[in-house]
Amino acid sequence: MSNTLEKIQAPIAKEMTEFEKKFRDSVKTNIWILDNVMNYIIKGKGKQMRPMFVFLTAGICGQITEATYRGAALIELLHTATLVHDDVVDDAHYRRGFFSINALWKNKVAVLVGDYLLAKGLLLSIDNQDFGLLKIVSNAVREMSEGELLQMEKARSLDITEAVYFDIIRQKTATLIASCCGVGASSSGASEGVVQKMLQFGEKIGIAFQIKDDLFDYGTAEIGKPVGIDIKEKKMTLPLIYALNKADKNDKRRIINLIKNESEKPKKVVEVIDFVKQSGGIEYTQQVMQGYYQEAEQILAGFPDSIYKTSLQDLVKFTIERSR
Ligand code: IPE
Ligand code: IPE
Ligand code: MG
Ligand code: MG
Repeated sequence: MSNTLEKIQAPIAKEMTEFEKKFRDSVKTNIWILDNVMNYIIKGKGKQMRPMFVFLTAGICGQITEATYRGAALIELLHTATLVHDDVVDDAHYRRGFFSINALWKNKVAVLVGDYLLAKGLLLSIDNQDFGLLKIVSNAVREMSEGELLQMEKARSLDITEAVYFDIIRQKTATLIASCCGVGASSSGASEGVVQKMLQFGEKIGIAFQIKDDLFDYGTAEIGKPVGIDIKEKKMTLPLIYALNKADKNDKRRIINLIKNESEKPKKVVEVIDFVKQSGGIEYTQQVMQGYYQEAEQILAGFPDSIYKTSLQDLVKFTIERSR
């Protein structure tokens, strides 16, 4: 892949190193078990795309400031907290190429560690009186919980529509990525109008980001976390929604029945995946993702050229081309 994360990070390499230090420092603790888990989390860091969105948007809009660093650290702390909890919710035992926290330390520890990360994020902002920042990000976390709960409701009723799917992914994923871009812009001293533009940009690319994640679940590639797990958890994402909408009554009833009663059986999950593939659900979803990608690109095109903009364009491309 031409756009490696390393290449994209080049203009903000110094900032990313400094950010990692802030992240590490803000989760220091004297509690032995917590310290163990935190070291494990720091060693198994993710792609860190959210802080990259923060720094690159700040760079485009003005000056990278101390508030930009705190914004990046706050968002990655909250993102990590939600992943630790998400693996409990999804009963997933694999994350970032290693065992998940709940797999190694059990659910009880994972729930408390998620809470700890959330509290540490909040304190980082409060201690520095970043209340504007805190408001944007707290709203994103509220939306995330609502999105995950709406998703859960739909996993029970199995009657999700495309419109509800987009509501869910906007809430659970796109809003946080939008706040990365909003926080980046506002921390650099951008005007309210520019902040709004960046929020819109972040929402578009955040939706594309989650569609890509949902596509991974239909593949067999090694992505550092489980695949096929969405259907097992009765999570109906765009490829499946499309395939069901196209299917005749009998097929629809058969597939819904499989998901409802037999999603624990790997063979049945494969049957559902094959049905989606044969219906063209993957191609359709890729097209939709491409649409959001292009809308994001168009918004970005309106900003003046700079090394930050070039890198952000590469990060946008990476979002839909990535292999993990
Ligand atoms: C995973 O996000 C959670 C989703 C919103 C799909 P990332 O793919 O950014 O996770 P890490 O931080 O790189 O592991
Ligand atoms: C995104 O949903 C999770 C959050 C927004 C916290 P997923 O459940 O699809 O994320 P992964 O695939 O486990 O990373
Ligand atoms: Mg999950
Ligand atoms: Mg997923």
